[in-house]
Amino acid sequence: MASSIISHLLRSLVLLLAAALARSRSVETVQGEADRVTALPGQPPVKFRHYAGYVGVGSGKEKALFYWFFEAERRPDEKPLVLWLNGERKRRAGPGCSSVAYGEAQELGPFLVRSNGPNLTLNPFAWNKVANILFLEAPVGVGFSYTNRTSDLRELGDRITAKDSYSFLLSWFRRFPQFRSHDFYLAGESYAGHYVPQLAVEIYEGNRAERKKSFINLKGFMIGNAVINDATDQMGMVEYAWSHAIISDELHSAIRKHCGTFQEDGDRAAGPGCSPVLRAFLRAYSDIDIYSIYTPVCGYDPCTEDYVEKYFNREDVQIALHANVTRLSYQYSSCSEVIEKWNDSPATVLPILHKLMNAGLRIWVYSGDTDGRVPVTSTRYSIKEMRLKAKGGWRAWYYEEQVAGWFVEYEEGLTLATVRGAGHQVPVFAPDRSLALLSHFLHGRTLPTGRFSRS
Ligand SMILES: *[C@@H]1O[C@H](CO)[C@@H](O)[C@H](O)[C@H]1NC(C)=O
Ligand SMILES: *[C@@H]1O[C@H](CO)[C@@H](O)[C@H](O)[C@H]1NC(C)=O
Ligand SMILES: *[C@@H]1O[C@H](CO)[C@@H](O)[C@H](O)[C@H]1NC(C)=O
Repeated sequence: MASSIISHLLRSLVLLLAAALARSRSVETVQGEADRVTALPGQPPVKFRHYAGYVGVGSGKEKALFYWFFEAERRPDEKPLVLWLNGERKRRAGPGCSSVAYGEAQELGPFLVRSNGPNLTLNPFAWNKVANILFLEAPVGVGFSYTNRTSDLRELGDRITAKDSYSFLLSWFRRFPQFRSHDFYLAGESYAGHYVPQLAVEIYEGNRAERKKSFINLKGFMIGNAVINDATDQMGMVEYAWSHAIISDELHSAIRKHCGTFQEDGDRAAGPGCSPVLRAFLRAYSDIDIYSIYTPVCGYDPCTEDYVEKYFNREDVQIALHANVTRLSYQYSSCSEVIEKWNDSPATVLPILHKLMNAGLRIWVYSGDTDGRVPVTSTRYSIKEMRLKAKGGWRAWYYEEQVAGWFVEYEEGLTLATVRGAGHQVPVFAPDRSLALLSHFLHGRTLPTGRFSRS
C-alpha cells in the first residue's frame, strides 16, 4: 500500500518534471525560431534554414554578441556543429575582423557577397555541405556585436574575448538545444590562432567544472595561417620574404643581425637596430599583397571587402538579419573601427595546444603557402617548437589528381597541412580543397595520399 502511494507520487513527480522540461524546451525552440532569417535581400532560394540574432553576455548582459547560423544543407540533425572565427584586421595589425564579413560573406559561408549587384552568390563549396556552421562576431565592437557601456571597448583583450565567447555558447545552446549533443568543433584563421585554443580551454574547463548542465561536446579544432607563437611567427615572416625573393640578402642579414631570433620581446625584439630594419622589411611589401603574394593588389575579385561592407550596411539587410536593432552610432565595417585598445595577448599559445592535445582534442593546423603575413615557414617553426613525434613523414595530399598541399601527422594528435598556392584566407583561394580539408578533419581521416585515391 505504502509503496504504491510512493510509486504513484514518484510517477506524478516524474510527469510534472517531464512537463516542465517539455515546456522549457519548447520555449527555447521558439526563441531560436524567432531568429530564423526568412527574407534576406538577394538570397538565392535554398533548402536549408538559417538564423541570426543577438545573444547577451557579460555580468549584467550589457554586451550583445551577434551570430549567424546555417544548418547543414542536408540532414543537419546528423552533422557536426562548427563555430568559425576570424581574427586579424586586414589593414592594421591586431584583432577585430568579423566572421560574418570575412568567413561567411567572402570565404566559406553559403552566401557570398561578390558584387554590388542585388544578388548574393551561392557558394558551391560552402562548409555547410558537411556541417552546421555558426559564425560569431566577437568580441563586442566587431561587426554588429556591441556593448552599451563604452568603457567595455577599452577593456578588450584575449581573456575577455574567450570568456564572452564561452558565455555566448552556453546561451546559444540553450536557444538551440537540439544541437547540444552534436559533435562540436572550432575553426578559424589568423588571429583566431589565439581565439580558438583559448576558447577551447574555456570549454574544456567549463565542462570539467559544471558537468552535465552546460556540457559542450567539443571534439577538436582547426586553425589556418594562425598566429600561435610570436617569436617563430616573426622569424618565419622574414625567412619567407627572403626565400620568395621579396627582400634582399642584405636586408635579410641585417634583420638576422639586429633582431636576433625575435625571442626577447615580441615585436620590440632584440637590439635598437631592429625597429628600423623591420620597417624596411614592411616597406618591401608595400606594393604587393602580403596576404597573397602572387595575386594583383586587391586582385582576387577586386576588393570584395567593399561590396561586403555596402551589403551589410543596407537597412533591409540588417532588418532581415535581426541586426543593429539598437541603431548603433557607427557604420558596419568588416574590421572594427571602434575597438580602442587590446589589453592582453600572450606571446605564445603553444602551451595551450599541448594541454588540449593531452586532453584528447583533435587539432589540425593548416597553412595557405602563398601568404606572407602568417606564412607556412612561421607555422612550421612554431610547430617545431612543440617537439612532437611525427608519424608517416612529410607527404603530399591530393585533390582531383593534383597535389593539393603537403602534410604531416604527429603521434600526439596534431596534423599540420599546407594548401598549395593559397593565400592567408585559404577558402577564398582554394574553396574546393578547403572543403575537402574540413571534411577530412571532421571525420578524423588522413588526407588522401595517392594521386588517384578516392577519399
Ligand atoms: C542597449 O540599450 C538599448 C537602448 O536602451 C536597449 O534596447 C538594448 O537592449 C541594450 N542592449 C543590451 C545588450 O543591454
Ligand atoms: C537576382 O535573382 C532573382 C531571383 O532569383 C532573379 O530574378 C534576378 O534576375 C537576379 N538578378 C540579377 C541581376 O542577377
Ligand atoms: C545601425 O543603424 C543606424 C541607423 O540606421 C546606422 O546609422 C548605422 O550605420 C548602423 N550601424 C551598424 C553597425 O550597422
